[in-house]
Amino acid sequence: MREKLLVENLVKVFGEDPGRAVRMLESGRSKPEILEETGMTVGVSGVDFTVREGEIFVVMGLSGSGKSTLIRMINRLIDPSSGNIMIDGESITEANDDALRRIRRDKLAMVFQHFALFPHRSVRENVEFGLKTRGIVPRERRARAMEMLEQVGLEAWAEATPGALSGGMQQRVGLARALAVDPEVLLMDEPFSALDPLIRADMQGELLQLQHKLKKTIVFITHDLDEALILGDRIAIMEEGRFVQVGTAEEIVADPASDYVAAFTRDIDRGRVFTAESVMAPAEALDLAQDAPQTALERMERLGRDALYVEEGGTLTGVVRYRDLAAATRINGANLRGQVITDYPTVAADTHLHRMFRLCASGLPVAVLDREGRLAGVAEPDAVFGQLAPRENGGGAPETRMQG
Ligand SMILES: Nc1ncnc2c1ncn2[C@@H]1O[C@H](COP(=O)(O)OP(=O)(O)O)[C@@H](O)[C@H]1O
Ligand SMILES: [Mg+2]
Repeated sequence: MREKLLVENLVKVFGEDPGRAVRMLESGRSKPEILEETGMTVGVSGVDFTVREGEIFVVMGLSGSGKSTLIRMINRLIDPSSGNIMIDGESITEANDDALRRIRRDKLAMVFQHFALFPHRSVRENVEFGLKTRGIVPRERRARAMEMLEQVGLEAWAEATPGALSGGMQQRVGLARALAVDPEVLLMDEPFSALDPLIRADMQGELLQLQHKLKKTIVFITHDLDEALILGDRIAIMEEGRFVQVGTAEEIVADPASDYVAAFTRDIDRGRVFTAESVMAPAEALDLAQDAPQTALERMERLGRDALYVEEGGTLTGVVRYRDLAAATRINGANLRGQVITDYPTVAADTHLHRMFRLCASGLPVAVLDREGRLAGVAEPDAVFGQLAPRENGGGAPETRMQG
């Protein structure tokens, strides 16, 4: 995928002499040391990352870790102290006023935590706002705004004022307003943090659905790891102005880079993060036409498996269990075919483990199928449940639900 945003060694220091603080950072001094010695606050401290086109890149961290400062530098609501930000290969940090105006107009839109709607204007007028400042004529503005309101399910509320709407609905208006200008990059600073948990879950689902259609490049800020795991194609964990880890949900939960990250991940629902693929072992399938029962038993013993799948001419036909086969071979004339169970559990490789519990109850290994329906591997029930148990870690527990 193409790189949409590139951020290099980005620093923001709030205070009298940012240059001095930057030099102190470069010589390895910490945010608390710099505050103590100079009274200056390090907001963001040498952050590097890229965001690919069409990706949801989530930045997750506690309150005060620098998330808002970071996202506001991307559209230069805050000017960086040093470092570089590029969009489509053009520098935002070095852009002059004209170039910056053009980049903001053509490429960027922002959604805030507090919806920042005009209370005295109708929902439709709020959505039209960005189009008006772009000089689009009223008829076209109106049509575009109605189209966006339809996307977020609020066309019936077009002529109401925001005050008549619930928090979740107001944030949908905020989203419609941002999307109305058809930005390439959507910057979202804790857009759902002020909402009730159920509404919030709805909004997360809706954002994913919208994104499926619109395929924007999104930078999404949250202080909630569950939200990060649900939304992020990749997630950056931020602490004291730095990124301490960047990766997919699976990568971060499977292998937290520090005690700090481990402590965050300890309480999450691992069944919603890991997929069948993460616990998949080679199928070691038997060939129904070739393999004798004795071959099958020996292979299971060697691999420590209770059952193996069987294929015939490359097609999956079923599964045989050790105990059935061992019992049958004590009777003369047993063959493999007579012991094949044809009612067996299957999943796609990207199925989350929490959807596999019922399938595991059969005790049979679950057949993991590729996109063509071929056997890609097996997920043993023990491997599924083993993956759900949190790993040992030494980290103290940060408060993951503080307001950001
Ligand atoms: N305008 C400002 N002046 C001084 N310090 C600021 C300013 N804005 C943010 N900070 C400080 O920068 C750090 C990061 O803040 P912020 O980016 O708002 O964090 P977050 O969004 O993760 O809660 C905090 O220590 C905060 O106090
Ligand atoms: Mg913030």
